[in-house]
Amino acid sequence: MKVPFLDLPAQNRSVAGEIRAAMDEVIDASAFILGPAVERFERNFAKFAGTSHCVGLNNGTTSLQMALIAAGVGPGDEVIITPLTWVSTAWAISYVGATPVFADVDPVSYTLDPELVRKAITPKTKAIMPVHIYGQMADMTALMAIATEHKLVVIEDAAQAHGATQNGRSAGSIGHIGSFSFYPGKNLGAFGEGGAIVTNDESIAKRIARLRDHAQQGRHNHVEIGFNTRMEGLQGAVLDVKLRHLPAWNDARRRHARFYERQLGSISELQLPRVAEGHDPVWHVYCVQLKTGSRDVLRDALAEKGIATGVHYPTPVPYQPAYAYLGHRVGDFPVAEGIMNSCFSLPMYAELTAEQLTAVCDSLKELLPMTKRHAA
Ligand SMILES: Cc1ncc(COP(=O)(O)O)c(C=O)c1O
Repeated sequence: MKVPFLDLPAQNRSVAGEIRAAMDEVIDASAFILGPAVERFERNFAKFAGTSHCVGLNNGTTSLQMALIAAGVGPGDEVIITPLTWVSTAWAISYVGATPVFADVDPVSYTLDPELVRKAITPKTKAIMPVHIYGQMADMTALMAIATEHKLVVIEDAAQAHGATQNGRSAGSIGHIGSFSFYPGKNLGAFGEGGAIVTNDESIAKRIARLRDHAQQGRHNHVEIGFNTRMEGLQGAVLDVKLRHLPAWNDARRRHARFYERQLGSISELQLPRVAEGHDPVWHVYCVQLKTGSRDVLRDALAEKGIATGVHYPTPVPYQPAYAYLGHRVGDFPVAEGIMNSCFSLPMYAELTAEQLTAVCDSLKELLPMTKRHAA
């Protein structure tokens, strides 16, 4: 049976009528840049995230960049992040002329270890940017306590965590600013590029709304160096429709995660994802560690049976050639390295059928002994 890693056509078919109607409205009004559809989405997404403001942007990389600028981070500053993330988290810090400082992750949640964050703080530290990786939030309670103690700004990279909670509080709503990506494969995905920041700080929201539009305050009055990072009207329309379905889609992911847990939880070769106390993840990625045997052999064998898997991600960000100047060496971030050397991601999206989920689990059970033999 074929189980793709993602099935966007299936999701799109389920909302096609609603989306076409919403796109038609934008086309009829020719409101292609920002406009009423984006404003409606911003209102609804702020409500969803539990914040008073949302500013629609053009992707989740520039939204991190806009957040850092609005937080006053710039040349000479240090920002603490995790080595286990998509590279954009680090890019944004580099774009503003600051330096990413990496702290290793917690072995249970795979997110920033608060104690190691504390150790990474120097007089130059300006901000912490926790990443809610795979859809589970970092320990925001501990991180906010550290930030308050050291007067640091916290920007949540919630690109993978639309709707995740810790103790009932939503991703993006606890730090000073939350940043989201609406890349098509995300839990909430646009029909192209998209991103947003959420915040309860009106002045930050106003600054980012201005920055994204060439820093105009009134027409043709540019009050600082601006950007073109505006959300497109068509993306706002698509996202607003999909947002209505997001809680049900996240619930379906939670059911699928429970299915994987029931079927695979007792297999000694696998370390399934664990949920930290008080957390309710949204399972953007279902990341499994293979404790013994070859991940690549297993993935190839699964692919031959039609089961697609991914690796999120093979290389810790500080070991990327782009960050060689920081001088890190293998062994600096043992927990993240252990995860990234052994992890592979199973198909995870709302539209997965019971037959597909069963095929994934049955194939894994059948192939794991072969993987072990290969490693011996
Ligand atoms: C953790 C994380 N941060 C930032 C981004 C960047 O988002 P975008 O691809 O929309 O620029 C992504 C998306 O790939 C992500 O997963």
